[in-house]
Amino acid sequence: MTEGQTTANQPQDEQEERAVLTVEHLVKQYPQAQSPVLNDISFQVPKGKVFVVLGPSGSGKSTLLRTIAGLEPIQGGRILLDGQVVETGHPLGKHGGGPGGLMSGSRSSDLRTRIGMVFQSYDLFPNRTVLDNVTLAPVLVQKRKRDQARQEALELLDRVGLADRRDAWPSQLSGGQRQRVAICRALILHPEIMLFDEVTAALDPEMVREVLQVILELADQGLTMMIVTHEMAFARGIADHIVLLDGGTLVEQSDDPEAFFTHPATDRAQRFLSTFTYERRRDQDQDQESR
Ligand SMILES: Nc1ncnc2c1ncn2[C@@H]1O[C@H](COP(=O)(O)OP(=O)(O)OP(=O)(O)O)[C@@H](O)[C@H]1O
Ligand SMILES: [Mg+2]
Repeated sequence: MTEGQTTANQPQDEQEERAVLTVEHLVKQYPQAQSPVLNDISFQVPKGKVFVVLGPSGSGKSTLLRTIAGLEPIQGGRILLDGQVVETGHPLGKHGGGPGGLMSGSRSSDLRTRIGMVFQSYDLFPNRTVLDNVTLAPVLVQKRKRDQARQEALELLDRVGLADRRDAWPSQLSGGQRQRVAICRALILHPEIMLFDEVTAALDPEMVREVLQVILELADQGLTMMIVTHEMAFARGIADHIVLLDGGTLVEQSDDPEAFFTHPATDRAQRFLSTFTYERRRDQDQDQESR
């Protein structure tokens, strides 16, 4: 994904320099936990780029996205959106309470809508139609005109191939269709960055493809994204920058995804990637047997 990514009329290097998201020395610790879940995490996501986060189960990927989205307080470091500090860490008190144990509550609704997030479980409102699911937040939170929101929602649904399902209820959709509605619902708020947390993990293989295709198209259109995925071929195809999270720390960062997948720099990354290959070592076994 190197061509066709430039948005507006800005020169490409100017875009590359501008970080939409900056995370500095982030520490996340749950109250009563012995050690932090995320420890001294720092990185930047430049405008128009796709930042992929890989890592084994429990390494802190979802927690990282949730802190960035403002759904969890942080206990150290800070998070900046477009150069503006949106979250600052406060250490936990002695008994896990104190300011660090609380949501800062400082994010305005304006700020919250600047970061879009889609989760693994499609959390659509079950008692609203597809179209209403998409138009609710722009009308209620952003106070946009209903007609204008409706128009944009229809355009978005068309883009993801669901224009004809606008009056359906979420229960009448497949998992892949619901995820595409969830993506529209986030996009209509015009976020500066979209966070995707294993959005295809609960889907059948054919539906995985239709959802990943939508995300690939968003990348081509220059949307800035942070993606957590276990789909290695997809990660390899879409990433501009890739990181491996393990035990709450970033053990490898690369802005050359091809190199990361073919020649990872760390043993940890090599071991992680090897869990995705299935090779029977027949020749070696035979060699050993014949000895
Ligand atoms: N609310 C919570 N309270 C205490 N500990 C938590 C909480 N949520 C997550 N954790 C712990 O934080 C660690 C990281 O969890 P997280 O869900 O971020 O991992 P993950 O990398 O997303 O894993 P997976 O690939 O399985 O989704 C885990 O050890 C988990 O048990
Ligand atoms: Mg997770």
